[in-house]
This record gives sequence, C-alpha cells and structure tokens, in this order.
Amino acid sequence: MLKYVDYAQYYDHFHRGAIADFGFYLDYARQYGSPVLELACGTGRLLVPLAEAGIEMTGVDLSENMLAVCRQKVERRQLAGRVNLVHASMVDYELSRKDFALAFIAFRSFMHLYSQQDQLACLRRTYEYLRPGGALIIDLFSPIYKLLAQEPDQPFSVREKSDLPNGHHLIRKDRFLKNDPVLQIQYAELRFEEYDSEGALVAERTIPLSMRYTFRYEMQLLLEKVGFEVVEFFRDYDKNSFDGVGEIIVVAQRPR
Ligand SMILES: C[S@@+](CC[C@H](N)C(=O)[O-])C[C@H]1O[C@@H](n2cnc3c(N)ncnc32)[C@H](O)[C@@H]1O
Repeated sequence: MLKYVDYAQYYDHFHRGAIADFGFYLDYARQYGSPVLELACGTGRLLVPLAEAGIEMTGVDLSENMLAVCRQKVERRQLAGRVNLVHASMVDYELSRKDFALAFIAFRSFMHLYSQQDQLACLRRTYEYLRPGGALIIDLFSPIYKLLAQEPDQPFSVREKSDLPNGHHLIRKDRFLKNDPVLQIQYAELRFEEYDSEGALVAERTIPLSMRYTFRYEMQLLLEKVGFEVVEFFRDYDKNSFDGVGEIIVVAQRPR
C-alpha cells in the first residue's frame, strides 16, 4: 500500500493552489450536515477548512506523516474540539460512531485501493458508518486511453519548479512506468529534488505513485453491490455531467 511517508513534508506546498474542490465539498457538507467523515484525509487540505467552516469532521488516513501535518494545523487553528483523526486504512478502519451524514474520498484517493476486494471492503464499511439517508462522494480520474497506451518506462519529466519557504528550490518530476490492463493499475513514480540557495542537492526522494483506475459503470456496480443508490455522476466540481473525459465524481446515498 502507498503510504505517502516521504511525501507529507512537500504535500501542502505542491497542492497550495488546489482549491477547486473545496466549495463542492462544503456545499455537500452544509446540505447533509455534521458529522462528516473524510477517508484518506491526508494533511487536511479539505478537512481543516471544512472544520473552520463549522463542520464536525472525522478524518482517517493510512499515513502517520500526513496525519501529523494535519494534526499540527488542527492544533494551531484551535479546531481540536471539532476534529477527530484516526490512523488507519480506509479498507478496515473502525470508528466509535455510526451516524455520519456524509462521507467522502477526495482527490482520487480511492485510486490507491489496488484490488476490487479492497474497494468493496472500503465501501461496505463506509456504508455501515453512514446514517440512513447519508451520502458518500468519491472522485476519480476518468481512465484516459491515451495515457493508458503510453510506452512503458518513460524517463522522468519535470512537472514543477518552485521555491520553498526556507529559501530552497524544489523540483518535482514524475514518470509513467507501465499499465497493467488486467489489474487496472497504472504504475508511476514521483521524484522530488530539493536544492539549497547555492544550488547543492540537499534531499532527493523517489516514491511509487500507482493508481487503480475504475470505469464509470464499474463504479456504479460496486456502489450498488454494497447497497448504495447512485444519485449523480459529475465530470467536475462545477457539477457538469460526466462526459468520460474529466473526472468521475460520484454522489451516492445510503437508502433511508
Ligand atoms: C492524494 S492524497 C489526498 C489527501 C487529501 N484527501 C486531499 O484531498 O488533499 C492521498 C491520501 O490517501 C492516503 N491513503 C492511501 N492509501 C490509503 C488507505 N488504504 N487508507 C487510508 N488512506 C490512504 C495517503 O496517505 C494520502 O494521504
């Protein structure tokens, strides 16, 4: 399983501009009400501002390092009374309450479940933790055939160059390794290189970043198999209908 161990310290820096989905999740959190469960909450990119907006949040994540960043933000913003963080896998997590009004798995984190067995275990468990009438939202990358058909073992290409608050320079690279069409997994790698102000390399890490892709009707069947009713499929956070090109954002509901 991907643990994001070495990614945590850079995660918020890389995703500092990622705000497009916040309004979308805030609208649903307001519509369904508290408490809200975020699976694979990471550093709290969404969880922390949702708690700041008054939503009672529980976050589950597999990476203690990602959670440590989240915990720091929760403490600094004095949100501890509204936030519960749990270190566990979304496949077999356990919580003391079973009355969540909304659960969500944002930023394609469901793609880190690498088998149908794990996907179903996660969905079954989440169904149990929702109250009747509660909703589950999942967003995924739509499988894009052009990307799946890439030649294997691509060289690294630079995705971003930026300056860190400590004055160091950070370069992020990634590369496609291979596609396994049977397991529906795309294997890729991320690489970070941190340089000091003199240009000397002070840290470097290469981490696997593999994702299992799921098709729209496959997602619908998985959800229905565990008892959810599918409400909508969107292609983006502006709620435009799914068109096979953008994201797969599904809203499902536990029947009342
Ligand atoms: C792309 S990050 C998303 C973090 C956060 N939801 C956000 O929107 O910024 C993916 C997260 O999934 C977590 N993750 C991966 N596999 C997991 C699993 N089996 N159970 C729980 N969390 C997992 C990683 O630790 C990481 O924090």
